[in-house]
Amino acid sequence: MKISFSKLLQKWFDQAKRELPWRDTNDAYRIWLSEVILQQTRVSQGLPYYLRFLSNYPTIQAFAAASEEEILQLWQGLGYYSRGRNMLKCAKRLVDEFDGEFPKDWKAMRSLPGIGDYTASAILSFAYDLPHAVVDGNVYRVLARVYGIDMVINTPAATRHFKQLAQELLDTSNPANHNQAIMEFGALQCTPTNPNCAICPLQQSCIALRTNTIDKLPVKKRPKPRRKRYFNYLVLQRNNDIFIRQRKGKGIWENLYEFPLIESEKPLNTNNLSKQFKQHFGPINASFTPDYESKHVLSHQEIYAVFWLVDDATFRFTGNSDIFEVGFEELELKYALPVLISRFLEHHRKNT
Ligand code: ADE
Ligand code: SF4
Repeated sequence: MKISFSKLLQKWFDQAKRELPWRDTNDAYRIWLSEVILQQTRVSQGLPYYLRFLSNYPTIQAFAAASEEEILQLWQGLGYYSRGRNMLKCAKRLVDEFDGEFPKDWKAMRSLPGIGDYTASAILSFAYDLPHAVVDGNVYRVLARVYGIDMVINTPAATRHFKQLAQELLDTSNPANHNQAIMEFGALQCTPTNPNCAICPLQQSCIALRTNTIDKLPVKKRPKPRRKRYFNYLVLQRNNDIFIRQRKGKGIWENLYEFPLIESEKPLNTNNLSKQFKQHFGPINASFTPDYESKHVLSHQEIYAVFWLVDDATFRFTGNSDIFEVGFEELELKYALPVLISRFLEHHRKNT
């Protein structure tokens, strides 16, 4: 079964695969770039990001020499800015400690910022053809269906089980091609809804098809969806002072102090934020830089907070009498702050 599974997949891949720029290369830098981006978004959306990053930074050395602002600007729209930040840290480490080469060793690879099991396997297999099976959402789905595995995924036991199975199935003489094949199969053939079973090369062996359980596999635990909220905190500093206000009304963090806030339905980019800032707080001519991002999970909601540095030394929050200036040092000593704000301050202290 192991041989035929991988053989059939790779045969399918040969004639069904998409031509994608990161498939023409075994340059670990390009593979890393594409894989980190593709963890954030789908191929069609990720492609322009990949091309922009690559033309701005053709090498890992060029990437490592970039400023955080530059990286975050290119990253804008992908969300989850800490991934972009980790990329810069990773590039710097590689240049400083690894001669600008991605290591060929699992432990060294995993020790790099932002590189988890998936990315490590992807780089080691795609760049160096080393026998590490990738396990992403596509792989979970394909394996759960073909092998009829009804374990609830995203539990430690299931993760172990799927990783082990994926590793056993790996074609160790062709790890790169095998890994690309199984992910592409999940993306194009064995899709989440309406998989193309009628022309599937794994029909004969697919347990989900035989037992009519395609819609039930993989089994996901479905917690009630939490309400998602996007908090854009405006960090406006003047010398050693900073603007804050007290949070009013019922709901989270009642009476705690926080920075002036714009809440939005979706993540905002710099342009949107700048517009909304003007609507809320009046005219300003400033640059807005996303400086720190934090996800805060509560029982019924998830807060995605972005702390934007507002670069304007003269702006005043006129017409918002509840917003006032405090000394930076006073802030933590005298005011009760949500943990989210404290974490930002800790980050801010380290970086100034
Ligand atoms: N998704 C994640 N990695 C990918 C890759 N290398 N090609 C296409 N889609 C992907
Ligand atoms: Fe997926 Fe259908 Fe093929 Fe089974 S038969 S592997 S469910 S596409």
